[in-house]
Amino acid sequence: MSASRSILLIIGGGIAAYKCLELIRRLKDRGIASRCILTKAGEEFVTPLAVSSLAGERCFTDLFSLTDEADIGHIALSRSTDLLVVAPATADLIAKMATGLANDLASTALLATDKRILIAPAMNPRMWEHPATRRNMAQLEKDGVLVVGPNSGAMAERGENGPGRMAEPHEILAAIEQALAGETRVSPTIGFLGRSPGGAVSSGQKPLAGKRVLITSGPTHEPIDPVRYIANRSSGKQGHAIAAAAAAAGASVTLVSGPVTIADPAGVETVHVESAREMLAAVEAALPADIAIFAAAVADWRVAEEAPGKLKKQPGAEAPALALVENPDILATVAAREIDRPPLVVGFAAETDNVIDYARAKLAKKGCDLIVANDVGGTGVMGGDANTVHLVTADAVETWPTLPKAEVATRLIAHLADMSKAGG
Ligand SMILES: Cc1cc2nc3c(=O)[nH]c(=O)nc-3n(C[C@H](O)[C@H](O)[C@H](O)COP(=O)(O)O)c2cc1C
Repeated sequence: MSASRSILLIIGGGIAAYKCLELIRRLKDRGIASRCILTKAGEEFVTPLAVSSLAGERCFTDLFSLTDEADIGHIALSRSTDLLVVAPATADLIAKMATGLANDLASTALLATDKRILIAPAMNPRMWEHPATRRNMAQLEKDGVLVVGPNSGAMAERGENGPGRMAEPHEILAAIEQALAGETRVSPTIGFLGRSPGGAVSSGQKPLAGKRVLITSGPTHEPIDPVRYIANRSSGKQGHAIAAAAAAAGASVTLVSGPVTIADPAGVETVHVESAREMLAAVEAALPADIAIFAAAVADWRVAEEAPGKLKKQPGAEAPALALVENPDILATVAAREIDRPPLVVGFAAETDNVIDYARAKLAKKGCDLIVANDVGGTGVMGGDANTVHLVTADAVETWPTLPKAEVATRLIAHLADMSKAGG
């Protein structure tokens, strides 16, 4: 394999196997080569031909294949890689791994490897919640196996709902990149049941249960006269997604939203405001909070004096000059509070150039704990559905791949839950 990073992808026999075709394609885009093993049951869901075509090399299916063993033996197969990924990880494969069975190519490779293993479980919620699967997952986590997902939601079986949907390809890709970077745990998907290696497995774990989270989102409108205002292109999609992710993680959430056209997130108390000054007042009224996230694009300036009536064109008169004054700095104001400063204050920085340098400067100037910086220069981020962010703290910068805003939100909330647990 020519790529510098490679994985051995083991595709188990579940409906979600089709998602692996998309995963292989995305891995290739990121320069990660995948060599694949397809279980016998996996072959019922995707064909070796489809897998081989996308992976760019033939996929392996049989432990007792003379040609395969002569080509690359099962031991070499399991070690000539950087990471083993099992997706979908069926209840059966999880049970085999937990007990050390090695009765086919997939389970033998998993037992023979000296590399780390990441699994993406996928099964019916009853199977996932069965005490046997709980025991097996607890064992795997003790063994240091990394887990991504599963997500909750509607299952392929009609009327079935609950935890068991395999993580989406982009979520598995993000977890693979984290594992390849040497991280000892991968960002959980909100609502998943298994957690980090060695961590407890508890049903319905909610990392922000009992926490109060305050989020601002959207633009502000600064009035010029009763019919005109100064605004910006913020859609509120990222801030609202963060509010939804925080609620899904068990937090009690207040969202202070500027004027947007998207719906209020379910399960979140949403306060609607127009101007920066109204936003500050609503934020202060919503304190105290454990985590405050300022994702709104607040106007830096407002018109010094709002005209009481509509400004009119006068024949021969010059255009009116708009004198601007600075708006209150909501992030800096909250970060500087002596009483009830939230233990974790997060700012957003939308920049068009020198994104990380400006974010570092903003972190110091505003006195917050983390800046989520994004490049909004001509990329369609404002109003778009994807975002590329850098997490900037006093001593580190973490850059995430371009992700859907909902995924940025989920990962950010998981990150903040960890920071919050570690004491900020
Ligand atoms: C239509 C269908 C869908 C299935 N989906 C799943 C699934 O999502 N997860 C799972 O654990 N088993 C699922 N199974 C059962 C597995 O295919 C079965 O346990 C098989 O032995 C797994 O083999 P493997 O782990 O070697 O891939 C499904 C079976 C059928 C017939």
